[in-house]
Amino acid sequence: MKPAALGILASGNGSNFEAIALACAERRLPARVVGLICNRPGAGVLGRAERLGVPACVLDDRSFPSRQAHEQAIGAQLEHWSPDWIVLAGYMRVLTPAFVADYPGRIVNIHPADTRLHRGTGGYEWAIARGLDETVATVHLVDEGLDSGPIVLQEAISILPGDSARSLSARGRAIEHRLYVRALARLLAGGIA
Ligand code: GRF
Repeated sequence: MKPAALGILASGNGSNFEAIALACAERRLPARVVGLICNRPGAGVLGRAERLGVPACVLDDRSFPSRQAHEQAIGAQLEHWSPDWIVLAGYMRVLTPAFVADYPGRIVNIHPADTRLHRGTGGYEWAIARGLDETVATVHLVDEGLDSGPIVLQEAISILPGDSARSLSARGRAIEHRLYVRALARLLAGGIA
């Protein structure tokens, strides 16, 4: 079977991007990363892409006159790469319904909390502030809402006494990485939930 083509969108550090790209390179995931789009020049993810030999394209949203114009540029680049799936890996912009409609059920995101309990940014900070004893990392399909699409897979991340948002997110990232790879494997195999 031909490996699925993944197009990744990221804004920052890119540890999830790297985990996915490595899983593809090591054949733990029947897919290949066809390209990375990053909306922040100088973001850490770009160095990771270079090291891993993944083609990268910087489309700084601040240099486009509108959200639509930015998304059109993203769409044109994606068309060039023809990904089967769009994988959001710390992409810090909300996609418009028009963009989401172009890839129905084909956009995936990872979130550091149970999306039924917390949506939007700051999931680890939220879990610490609430005094929870765990947060549940969630991979979900992207719909028109904010972190509201169908859940693909979840995994709990324990919150230890003395944890800060920083220590929790460092430990949580490691869990996110394997969760994202497992969830993508499930989606590629045609299954959800
Ligand atoms: C992760 O915590 C992810 O759940 C959230 O953004 C963060 C991205 O981290 N959506 P990284 O850039 O992959 O290290």
